[in-house]
Amino acid sequence: MKRLTITRPDDWHLHLRNGDILKTVIPHTAQRFARAIVMPNLKPPVTSVARASSYRQEILNALPENADFTPLMTLYLTAATTQEDIKAAAASGIVYGFKLYPAGATTNSDAGVSQVKAIYPLFEALQNVDMPLLIHGEVTDSKTDIFDRERLFIERTLIDIVRQFPELRIVFEHATTRDAIDFVTASSSFVASTITPQHLLYNRNALLAGGIRPHHYCLPILKREDHRLALVKAATSGNPKFFLGTDSAPHQTHLKENACGCAGCYSAHAGIELYAEAFEQAEALDKLEGFASFFGPDFYRLPRNADKLTLVKTEWR
Ligand code: NCD
Ligand code: ZN
Repeated sequence: MKRLTITRPDDWHLHLRNGDILKTVIPHTAQRFARAIVMPNLKPPVTSVARASSYRQEILNALPENADFTPLMTLYLTAATTQEDIKAAAASGIVYGFKLYPAGATTNSDAGVSQVKAIYPLFEALQNVDMPLLIHGEVTDSKTDIFDRERLFIERTLIDIVRQFPELRIVFEHATTRDAIDFVTASSSFVASTITPQHLLYNRNALLAGGIRPHHYCLPILKREDHRLALVKAATSGNPKFFLGTDSAPHQTHLKENACGCAGCYSAHAGIELYAEAFEQAEALDKLEGFASFFGPDFYRLPRNADKLTLVKTEWR
C-alpha cells in the first residue's frame, strides 16, 4: 500500500519539555497528532493546576501559526499531593490524568513516590472523581535486574492497586513485556496500556549488538524479541485496551551521546510513521486507525477526531 488515510491520531504519552526544546519539538507532534497527553516531569514537576495551566499556555504559545493541536495536561503525583489537588484537577477542565512515577524510575522522577501504599487515599480520590491514573510501572530498587523491573512492578504493586480500586481507570504506560500485555488483557476495561514505536520495532539487540546505541536507550528498557512480538500482537489485535503513546522524549544530543547517556527516545518527528512501519511489517495496517485514533479517546472518554491524516509511503532516513 502506498497511501493510507486514517482519522487524525492522538498521542497518549508525550514529553514536550519547556523553553527552547519545546519550541523545537512541538511542530513535529502538531503536524501529526490532534491532541497529546503531556507528561508532567519537568524540573520542577508539574504538581498543581496553576502550574499545568501556565505550562499549557507555554505550549500553546510555542505552536506554529495555524497549528491545530490541543495539549491534554497531567499532574505529577507526589507524597505531598492532596485530595484537594485532585478535586481541583477534576474541576479544571484542562487536566486529564495523574502520573505515578516510582521515585528514581526515570528522567526527572526524584519527586516520585517511594511508598505507593501510602498514597492509596489519593487513588481512592482519583477513583471518586473518575480521573485516570497513569503509571510508569517499574520497581526501582537498584538490586533488581533492569530487565525484570516491569514484571516485578506488576507482581508487587499493580495487582494490588487494581484489586483495591476496581473502578479506577489506569493506563499502564509504555508496556514493554509479555507480562504487561497479559496482565492488561486479563484485567477489566478500566485498565489499558500505551505502546511506544520503539518497543514495537526494536528488541534489546538494537541497543547493545554491534555497539552501544544510546538513541535506543529508554525506560523501560528494550526487551527480548519474544516480548516485542507480544507487543506487536497486542497493538495489531484490535483490542481497545491498547493504544498509541509515543513516549517521545527529547534530550540534547550531548546528553544522549555520553559516557552515562540519559534515557528517552525522541520519535515525534516520525510519530505516526514509525507505527505505520510496525503495523505494515505485521501485515496489519488495517488495524492502525483503531490503535492510533479510536481507542485512546474512547478510554479517556473524549470525542474521536473528525479530521483525517494521509500517510504516503516513501523511503526516508
Ligand atoms: C522519559 C523522559 O526522558 O522524560 N524517558 C524515557 O526513557 N522514557 C521519562 C519516562 O517516561 O520514562
Ligand atoms: Zn514517558
